[in-house]
Formats: sequence, C-alpha cells, structure tokens
Amino acid sequence: MNPMRTPEDFPYITNIHVNDCYTYQNFDILLNDDKPFSHLVLTGRNGSGKSTILSSLDSHLFRYYSSTGPSEHIHQLEGLTKANPKTPNISRWKAEIQQIKNIAIGFNNEPSLLNSKYITYSFLKSSRQSKPEKVTTVTQEIEFLEQLNQENSSEFFVKQFKQYLVNKKVNQAFDILDNNKEKIAETERFFQLITNSLQRILEDSALELVFMKENFDFEIQLSSGQRITFDHLSDGFSALVSILMDLFMRVDIIRKEVKDFSYNPCGIVLIDEPETHLHLKLQYEVMPLLTSLFPNIQFVVATHSPAVVSSLQKATIFDLTTKTTESERVVGSSFSELMVSHFGLENEYSNIADDIFEQINHIVKTEANPQKRKERLQEALTENEAYLSPAMQLELESMILEIQ
Ligand SMILES: Nc1ncnc2c1ncn2[C@@H]1O[C@H](COP(=O)(O)OP(=O)(O)O)[C@@H](O)[C@H]1O
Ligand SMILES: [Mg+2]
Repeated sequence: MNPMRTPEDFPYITNIHVNDCYTYQNFDILLNDDKPFSHLVLTGRNGSGKSTILSSLDSHLFRYYSSTGPSEHIHQLEGLTKANPKTPNISRWKAEIQQIKNIAIGFNNEPSLLNSKYITYSFLKSSRQSKPEKVTTVTQEIEFLEQLNQENSSEFFVKQFKQYLVNKKVNQAFDILDNNKEKIAETERFFQLITNSLQRILEDSALELVFMKENFDFEIQLSSGQRITFDHLSDGFSALVSILMDLFMRVDIIRKEVKDFSYNPCGIVLIDEPETHLHLKLQYEVMPLLTSLFPNIQFVVATHSPAVVSSLQKATIFDLTTKTTESERVVGSSFSELMVSHFGLENEYSNIADDIFEQINHIVKTEANPQKRKERLQEALTENEAYLSPAMQLELESMILEIQ
C-alpha cells in the first residue's frame, strides 16, 4: 500500500470514551461529523481533567505510532509486572497501564495505520519553551534522523532545532557546489516557510532569519535592526515558536522521506494550552496559523482561552465541566458572548467592571454636592474608560445623566 496517507484514508479520532479522568467518570466526547475530520477543543475549569485526557490520548496514540498499539503494550507491561514483582519500575508500569485504561478512542479508519514514519504525531505539553541547544558541529544526516526518530519527544525535537537548521545550511552549501538546483530551491523553501511564520508571529513583514557561520547560530533580525536569538524570545513567542519548530521539523523529515516537498502529511497533534503566555491577538491567531500550515493534521487542544475557542473552524468544542458540546456557532463569537455562554461566567462584566460600578455607587451615595458629584463621576468614567465595553460605558453615562 502507498505509505503516503491522504485525509480520506487516515485514522482521525471520531470519539473518545472517558472511563476516568480523576475528576469525572464514564462519559463520551463525540466529535462533529466534519469532513475529513474535526479538530477537538477541550475546555473546563482547572482540575476538570483536560491535561489528564491529553496524556491518556498520548499513551494510546504514541503506542500506535511507534509500535503495535496500546492493548499489546498493556499486555507486555502486565507480563513484566508479574515476572518482576519487586522492581522499582512497578509503580511506573502501573501508572502507564492506568493511563491507557483511562480512555478508549474511536477512529474513522484502522488505527494501526498510525504505525508509520510518514505521519505526524506530537504531544506539546503546556510547559514548553523554544530553547534549542547550541550547535558545535554538523552532524551526519542519517545518524541525526535516527536519533530524532528514536527520541521522538517534543522537548528533544525543539532542542535539536538549531542543529537541524545548521545541517540544512551546510548541506545547501554542498548543493550549491554541485549546482543541484532542485535541492537548493527545496532548502530555500523550508527557510522561507520558517521566516514567513516568524514574520506573522512577530508582526514584522521585513524580519529575516540570519545564519551566522562563525558560530553556527541563527538570529532573527527585525526591521528595526534589532537582532534576537531563539534563546531570547519572550516567553509567549518562545512557547509558540516551540510548537512550530517541532512541527516544521517533523513535516520536513517526512517530505524528504517521500521526496515530495509539497506533501502535507496527515497526523494528530495534541497541544495543552496553545495560548500559554500569548497576548490576546496572538491567542486568536495561533490555531488558524497552525491549521493553515498543517492542513491535514487533526489538532486536539486543551484551553482556557475564549480566543482559541472562537478562532478554530471545523472544531468540536467540548466542556468537561458541563459535558456539553458547543455547536459551530461559537466560531467568530465575541469574547463577551463566550465568557457567558461557554465559560459559565454570570455576565460579561469582569471583576474590574464590578469594581468600577462599586466606585460609581459609592460616589452617588456619599457626595452630596451635585456639581462635585457630577465632576467626580465624570472623572471615574474617564479614568476607567479602557476597562469598559462600549455597552457598559453607555450604561454608566446614562446613570450619571439620571443623577443630575
Ligand atoms: N495520576 C493521578 N492520580 C490521581 N489523580 C490525578 C492524577 N493526575 C491528575 N490527577 C487529578 O486529576 C484532576 C484533573 O487534573 P488535570 O487533568 O491536570 O486538570 P486540568 O488540566 O483540566 O486543569 C486533578 O484534580 C488532579 O489532581
Ligand atoms: Mg491542565
């Protein structure tokens, strides 16, 4: 069979039965019937079990991806446990068995197809940073790829990102010597893709990725002239760039393997809190960026961000606290609508707004002089303007008018 899966014959997740995520037991998460797949967004209060479900998904998917599958793995671990009842590994094995047994996954194709180096699988945890290791030498291509395949964790991929880029640059130099136009263009395209994404994230369309051959390092040169290394990105950029480093490398390795640099591999990628450390605008942009760069990957994310929830199309939004699925209507919903309808706040007004109301009430009750009262109210309004939605501002203005 052709190893290059298409979205039509790839085993995407269609439903998850949760036996236990410590907080809740025995319920189903049914994904929408979007074709060819629906992304999944898990929401819910702290401690509702989002990360637990992602880890359990990882235990299943990683086993399918790297070997024979989760049932066989449980069988092996149980065998080991029986044969070695006294080893200190027992508790780890038991935890691993438990993590697999926590959930059962339904797919729309045979899940054993996940056991392939031509698919993209990754689990990006919430504590992630883009701190690639310093590069001292060029490594041999085959050994390097073997090591990446063996280690596989996202942490390891991110650490090796600079090494990957340096190897590419050096190989490109050989390609230039050989006048291998096709390969030179492929490498160019890879670097262009990274540059374009950095331009989008850092909102600088003239930004460039500069290779410094003296010390085998890369710097991001902003249009202002300022240069930053990957180690000095702010936490937010760092958390986002680490996702990109991981996925760019995985996808590029597959493209090289199948010798087709326009191939978009199919896959499943789990991300815990894609919004980690990001300001609001980027929270809206992170998932659209990822789904446009990796169109055949099904993303399963856990989030607290209304911006993430409302930015993702063809997604099933499932809230663990209420066990309900939101319909597509949340896409493009306003922040305040979502705060009320999905995140279960009583109203769209934040605590800050409540404080402002309190302050206004206090002035009304305590300031007897009408002229002074008016001035103080106007002052309070101006002072807090930035925190008020237009609707609230109108409400307060009319309140002040009524007082006079
Ligand atoms: N291995 C474990 N054994 C027992 N309880 C656990 C284990 N792992 C997590 N929990 C508990 O499960 C609950 C859900 O945690 P978590 O999945 O991290 O929630 P969320 O990501 O939604 O904030 C928490 O109360 C946590 O203490
Ligand atoms: Mg969590």
